[in-house]
Amino acid sequence: MARPRGASLTMATRVTLVVAAVLLVAQTGAELTQVEHTPKTEGSLAILAIGDWGRLGQFNQTLVAEQMGVVGEKMDIDFVISTGDNFYDDGIANTSDPLFKESFTNIYTADSLQKPWYIVLGNHDYTGNALAQQDPAIRDVDSRYNSVNKSFIVSAGIADFFLVDTSPFIQKYWNNSKFDWRQVAPLTTYVETLVQDLDSALTESTASWKIVVGHHPISSGCEHGNTTELRQLLLPKHGVDIYLNGHDHCLQRITSVDSPLQLLTSGGGSKAWAGKFKATSDKLEFLYDGQGFMSMQLSKTDAELAFYDVTGTVLHSWAINKTASADAL
Ligand SMILES: *[C@@H]1O[C@H](CO)[C@@H](O)[C@H](O)[C@H]1NC(C)=O
Ligand SMILES: *[C@@H]1O[C@H](CO)[C@@H](O)[C@H](O)[C@H]1NC(C)=O
Ligand SMILES: *[C@@H]1O[C@H](CO)[C@@H](O)[C@H](O)[C@H]1NC(C)=O
Ligand SMILES: *[C@@H]1O[C@H](CO)[C@@H](O)[C@H](O)[C@H]1NC(C)=O
Ligand SMILES: *[C@@H]1O[C@H](CO)[C@@H](O)[C@H](O)[C@H]1NC(C)=O
Ligand SMILES: *[C@@H]1O[C@H](CO)[C@@H](O)[C@H](O)[C@H]1NC(C)=O
Repeated sequence: MARPRGASLTMATRVTLVVAAVLLVAQTGAELTQVEHTPKTEGSLAILAIGDWGRLGQFNQTLVAEQMGVVGEKMDIDFVISTGDNFYDDGIANTSDPLFKESFTNIYTADSLQKPWYIVLGNHDYTGNALAQQDPAIRDVDSRYNSVNKSFIVSAGIADFFLVDTSPFIQKYWNNSKFDWRQVAPLTTYVETLVQDLDSALTESTASWKIVVGHHPISSGCEHGNTTELRQLLLPKHGVDIYLNGHDHCLQRITSVDSPLQLLTSGGGSKAWAGKFKATSDKLEFLYDGQGFMSMQLSKTDAELAFYDVTGTVLHSWAINKTASADAL
């Protein structure tokens, strides 16, 4: 289960950590928060990913949740990833805001979903009390809710997940007075530090799979299209296999024209943007403009991924073979 690194370490791990920490300090002076998640089966990992969801069950949120429960049961998942915009329209006001239970606890009720949820913030979370979602007191309300820091790493054996706070990258938000920039301003410094910390963490990672999760798309053929700032600052680099985002309310798989990176959107948790598209010069492999979610089954060398609609029907599935893609790098 999830526990913050440092809770009970053997001496050997402690020494390794100290060495790693010294190296990081030498490079950047900071380190991203890290959570260890021990997979239930060694060498394998099963997860679901969903984004753009919290709407009191409306806009098919409840139907999507039910089907996540069914697929989660079948796959016996280890955890769930949320790509952000967790509560509409303006996040939550505090840790006892009734919206939290009404849009999360009371919606994702299936047994199979009673696992840790690792969560990034979206822009809609930032126009509420952004700090409330990271407050440990939120886990007294629902112990699954792990938005433990604005950016953090989930180390899960064969895969490391790098959850990145992407809203501060987006310059058009900077002077918007609705955004809760506490502990984030000044934004240029925050973004520079985050990019450095992510670079260090990616370089240090020895996991077979490196998966970066953020709210905003780097590349997209749905309504919002590219995010120029992320394209410039975030990826592709350091052998990242997958960039997973929300923000665009669709399900989408793009392959990069200039790297082996796969760019996936799982933003179909509730309201969908049917019929709104943008051009992308990357390769659009699949796009569905309705509601749904995605799954990922990982072994050390193979990944099986799938998108599902509101009835739980598989819309698109594919495999990534690490042995083959490693040759191509
Ligand atoms: C959250 O992350 C920042 C930046 O890495 C770090 O300075 C801070 O100590 C972290 N907070 C917690 C509670 O882990
Ligand atoms: C719910 O999903 C069904 C099936 O995809 C769709 O026809 C319907 O428009 C959706 N309802 C809403 C409110 O999005
Ligand atoms: C928390 O937020 C809710 C919703 O805005 C509000 O009704 C409640 O008074 C707030 N509670 C506290 C302790 O501030
Ligand atoms: C935000 O406002 C400041 C001060 O008015 C200005 O200097 C800056 O260029 C603005 N930034 C953006 C991204 O609009
Ligand atoms: C998205 O980015 C790609 C690569 O930089 C560019 O070729 C394409 O025109 C962009 N699309 C839009 C809609 O900005
Ligand atoms: C992956 O690729 C390797 C080498 O090309 C091959 O031996 C292996 O069977 C492939 N695995 C799958 C699941 O396709």
